[in-house]
Amino acid sequence: MYGIVNQAIQGLVTDSFGQQKWEEILKDSKVDIDSFSNKGIYPDKITYDLAISASKILNVSLDDVLFSFGKYWVLNIANLKYNSLLKTGGNHAFEFLKNLPNFHSRVMLYYPDIQPPEFQVEEVDSKTLILHYYSFRSGLSSFVKGIVIGLGDFFGNEIVCELIDLKEDQHTSSTFEIKWLD
Ligand code: HEM
Repeated sequence: MYGIVNQAIQGLVTDSFGQQKWEEILKDSKVDIDSFSNKGIYPDKITYDLAISASKILNVSLDDVLFSFGKYWVLNIANLKYNSLLKTGGNHAFEFLKNLPNFHSRVMLYYPDIQPPEFQVEEVDSKTLILHYYSFRSGLSSFVKGIVIGLGDFFGNEIVCELIDLKEDQHTSSTFEIKWLD
């Protein structure tokens, strides 16, 4: 994945737990890179190893690491670096989510070699969406859930998101039910 993803994991850890914890995570993961390039492409294994070591060193589940990472991704990385791109998706979390299937094609203007996830959205009623997530990667559904909740915070909408189906081998096909509570 592009280095911005690893930079963001580093940012989450150092902002929340300090530089020393990040160094412990680097050491535990045996990732021998202390500065990631935003647009460099790194093997996915590096990202997974960092997340697994963060879970071990910070003593939280891997799903919790990925969920926090998803929220951090929206509220810090996307909000601060790609605010106008984020706003092209709408001005309400539900509107944004309905446009999500096209979102990474706009991200490709910045990251042309991305291997993006795919999404499909079904509108059940004005307060309920079903979100299907497909990836050739595995293990990242909690990251998606963190992003969805982060989008609620970003747009100021209270939403809940529940994983209702998960099919995973080397690839992922998972489904979320998202409800808007406002
Ligand atoms: C400005 C906002 C965003 C930017 C710049 C961005 C960019 C990226 C980049 C660079 C990657 C790494 C993939 C690669 O290098 O092959 C990625 C992965 C991913 N993105 Fe986005 N993204 C954004 C918003 C979102 C949103 C709103 C979602 C919604 C859930 C999302 C879901 C994901 C997921 C799940 C992955 C992991 C890859 C996978 O599932 O296979 N992203 N994104």
